[in-house]
Amino acid sequence: MSDHLVNAYQSLPVTFTHGDGCYLWDSDGQQYLDALCGISVTSLGHNYPPLTAAIQDQAATLLHTSNLYSISWQHKLADLLCTSANMDRVFFANSGAEANEAAIKLARLYGHQQGIKNPQIVVMQHAFHGRTMATLSATGSRKVQAGFEPLVSGFVRAPYNDIAAIEAIAENNRNVVAILVEPVQGEAGIVIPDSGYLGALRRICDQNNWLLMLDEVQTGMARSGKMFACQHEAVVPDVMTLAKALGNGVPIGACVSRGKAAEVFKPGNHGSTFGGNPLACRAAYTVLADMLENHVADNAAQRGEQLSLLLQQGLADNKQVVEVRHLGLLIAIEMKIPCQPLVALALERGLLINVTAERTIRLLPPLILSEAQTAEVASKLISCIYQFTE
Ligand SMILES: Cc1ncc(COP(=O)(O)O)c(C=O)c1O
Repeated sequence: MSDHLVNAYQSLPVTFTHGDGCYLWDSDGQQYLDALCGISVTSLGHNYPPLTAAIQDQAATLLHTSNLYSISWQHKLADLLCTSANMDRVFFANSGAEANEAAIKLARLYGHQQGIKNPQIVVMQHAFHGRTMATLSATGSRKVQAGFEPLVSGFVRAPYNDIAAIEAIAENNRNVVAILVEPVQGEAGIVIPDSGYLGALRRICDQNNWLLMLDEVQTGMARSGKMFACQHEAVVPDVMTLAKALGNGVPIGACVSRGKAAEVFKPGNHGSTFGGNPLACRAAYTVLADMLENHVADNAAQRGEQLSLLLQQGLADNKQVVEVRHLGLLIAIEMKIPCQPLVALALERGLLINVTAERTIRLLPPLILSEAQTAEVASKLISCIYQFTE
């Protein structure tokens, strides 16, 4: 263990050496069922042969040239991504926070192009958008912001899932140019809004000439049971951000835009040395093409139903469980009590899970989970929860 790492993480005392599909192995040879995917990243599983082959081939061909030159895999990925999302243009970044930075800059520039000198973006309570200065300012968590003031200005906050609050902002604030919102709040504990919420936000944006910007960093790439969570409501945003599962572990982020939003950035407005590099774009192209071809979103929907039903049945008698909720394989078990120790308990039993918002067990398993592996996640977790709450 090195003392030379910045003390930014409270990592668990386990080191994984390799993975295969839905399983990981640690340095002692112990096997784990991965129900977290490195926080919604390795959705196609570990060491997925078509992706491994694409990465190996690209590493042996070309890694980096910069955006000073045309990058063919960037063009291919942009075409496939925009076609599958019904969008027009994409800016490639390296992470979710960077994708959201691009969206925030896009919204501000859009405002300035219309003569709004102090453009404001509506963001939500308990939202999570990243750890850079602009994205932590957009994030609705004091824990993330504390100590980093002064925050970036230009954000107006509203309660999540509250259309009346957004309508009130529209009446009173002429400087608003966009809404930035997660279709399901992930870090807040898989908070699923009422059906019709995104559609109502779309209507308000259209009425006020605002951009609807959806942060699909956690919900996108088939995780919700559709390729993009907004497709559950048949809502098409003006801007959508992606990262996490887009590269299945190879870092890449994307800020995808449509219509007037797609025409905002001009040469010189934004850029990135690594963004859209051949390796990341080839990996993401392989991931997206594979997800489309193998109907991975459908499996996520089916396994999500199965897992949530098994958890509901298995935990029905547990008095400490408030509810099980899910959209596809975004799964939450809300507890009455703080439950962080469950993470270590599950780890001991060979299961990787996460606890967020203090009382919410969060599962983000691989989208390629089989029926038998889904049952294995449920039975392992149910017995851990009973042991914890006894
Ligand atoms: C909804 C959402 N947006 C943005 C981010 C930030 O992504 P990254 O950690 O890749 O910067 C996250 C990360 O958890 C997220 O869940």
